[in-house]
Amino acid sequence: MDLKEKLQSIEKEAEKLFKDVDDLDRLEELRIEFLGKKGRITDVLRQMGKIPAEERPVIGLIANQLKAKLNELIQLKMNELEELIREKRLAEEKIDITLPGAGPEIGHYHPLTQIINEVKDVFIGLGFTIAEGPEIETEYNNFEALNVPEHHPARDLQDTFYIDDKYLLRTHTSPVQIRTLARQKPPIRVIAPGRVYRSDELDASHSPVFHQVEGLVIDKDISFSDLKGTIELFVKAIYGENRSLRFRPSYFPFTEPSAEVDISCIVCGGKGCRLCSHTGWLEVMGSGMVHPNVLEMAGLDTRVYSGFAFGMGWDRVAMLKYGIDDIRLFFENDRRFLHQF
Ligand code: PHE
Repeated sequence: MDLKEKLQSIEKEAEKLFKDVDDLDRLEELRIEFLGKKGRITDVLRQMGKIPAEERPVIGLIANQLKAKLNELIQLKMNELEELIREKRLAEEKIDITLPGAGPEIGHYHPLTQIINEVKDVFIGLGFTIAEGPEIETEYNNFEALNVPEHHPARDLQDTFYIDDKYLLRTHTSPVQIRTLARQKPPIRVIAPGRVYRSDELDASHSPVFHQVEGLVIDKDISFSDLKGTIELFVKAIYGENRSLRFRPSYFPFTEPSAEVDISCIVCGGKGCRLCSHTGWLEVMGSGMVHPNVLEMAGLDTRVYSGFAFGMGWDRVAMLKYGIDDIRLFFENDRRFLHQF
């Protein structure tokens, strides 16, 4: 094979190899193989000494043309490969702007807060204001001033968390009645929502911490019919217009007469079911006319003033309204539960 043929066969081989290259590294390898200092074309040129002098310029020319051609092929291939890489990268980095975004999560009120806000709205609409008292109370406000005698079972260590002889965790919101009477002259119309504590065993319907809302109305000429009218209006606002209610005689040391308020069962409407223990009624609050002893201890003239009070647990209100069967859910803060409200 003479040198001209050699160059021609190099050309054919190179054309074929360059056509199939599909990455830049391989292209560089081939460039070195054919055009490098020790490459195949140089190799042919080194053999020029062996051929007659007059043939050398022709071979030189062919070799240079081949070099130029291969350089051009390499350049074209390089552009082609770079373009491919760029396209591939663009495809990979493409952002799908039609995907819905991950918006910020909006929080909401705890179901117990939602309920107490509803309760507050009803009473504010009736001209009540909101009163507050501390969760650590004196024994005097929690019991004594509420006409709970010294040996009354409610004072029992089993029910009450005592801090010392004088202080305890309030067992109901009724001490806010005493604080209100001490601070304010009649007419008085307040409700007092808050946390209360009893040393109950934790189960589906009992929690050592739960929530009550107290109501207190004191004025001239307040009678039991005011109590009934107010509570009826409240019950219908919260549980619906068609809810019936009844007042059942009861006993509390700080009211006389006293009444337990029942509403027709939320589940069966009065026919009788498991929730209402087949009575058709659910107990929702305690109430009564403020006991004269309480008014007198607060320094009010019972010939002029009278009033009524009521108190209810609103954990239970929320449970009944939302159909929740376990009070512990309110305190566990499991987001799967809270998200439902
Ligand atoms: N404090 C009573 C209780 O905890 C409820 C109540 C309040 C009853 C006001 C009558 C008047 O059960």
